[in-house]
Amino acid sequence: MNPSSLVNLGRYPIAKLACEPGKSFAEKCKHEYQRNGLCVLPEFISTDSLEAMAQEAQAMQRHAYFCKSRHNAYLTETDLTLPEDDLRNRCEETYVGSVAYDLMGANSLLKQLYQWDPLKDFIGLVLGKYPFYRLDDPLGACSINVFVEGGEHGWHFDESEYTVTLMLQAPESGGAFEYVPQIRGCVDEKEKVGRILDGNREGVVELSFNAGTLLIFGGNRTLHRVTRVGGTRPRLVPVLCFAEESGQTNSAAVRQLFWGRTGV
Ligand SMILES: [Fe+2]
Repeated sequence: MNPSSLVNLGRYPIAKLACEPGKSFAEKCKHEYQRNGLCVLPEFISTDSLEAMAQEAQAMQRHAYFCKSRHNAYLTETDLTLPEDDLRNRCEETYVGSVAYDLMGANSLLKQLYQWDPLKDFIGLVLGKYPFYRLDDPLGACSINVFVEGGEHGWHFDESEYTVTLMLQAPESGGAFEYVPQIRGCVDEKEKVGRILDGNREGVVELSFNAGTLLIFGGNRTLHRVTRVGGTRPRLVPVLCFAEESGQTNSAAVRQLFWGRTGV
């Protein structure tokens, strides 16, 4: 199977980026990303492939390793010498599972999409990264986030500059992706983050979950969360990881945390 058939190339001409219309399209996405801190591509997966990709993820979800944690919005250590209401000490809850990359078979559609060079090259162009590589991590290169009932990801800024995710299956309820665009580094960043943690909704944007959407997201500057999921159908969201140098991997500590093991 040619991985290009997984992508809605009629709407997203990314197979040939050196010539038109791919070149102009990638430029447009790059501007969108720079302006808004994210680039949303609805119906990125072709209609014919979406169901098959969702079924594949459903079949693998039972292999997810689940991780429950409490963290502050900056994913840093708490500091008990500071007041209880200091941002460093205000903890959010996260409960999410992840299916590791090494569990995907050679015929996995998701794996074939991830390994398709034009996708990598397109994302590199949007992010303004060249050269650009797939992550070389045996577990975390491309994984599937699984939010079962009670699953959530509390407010935080990502450690990594950008994240690429694919919306595959919406849950029965909850699981909304909410974000407050580009507040990291603002003069009143701390006040804004504090207000959001208090439950104030000012500036909060919800990105509707439409299966088949590819999201390129600058999560290091934008505060974001996934609200608590309800119902028996899990929220399934593959995460595609890239790097600016070849041969990059996650640390053993990160692998242990997210997949419960350090090797294949
Ligand atoms: Fe995040």
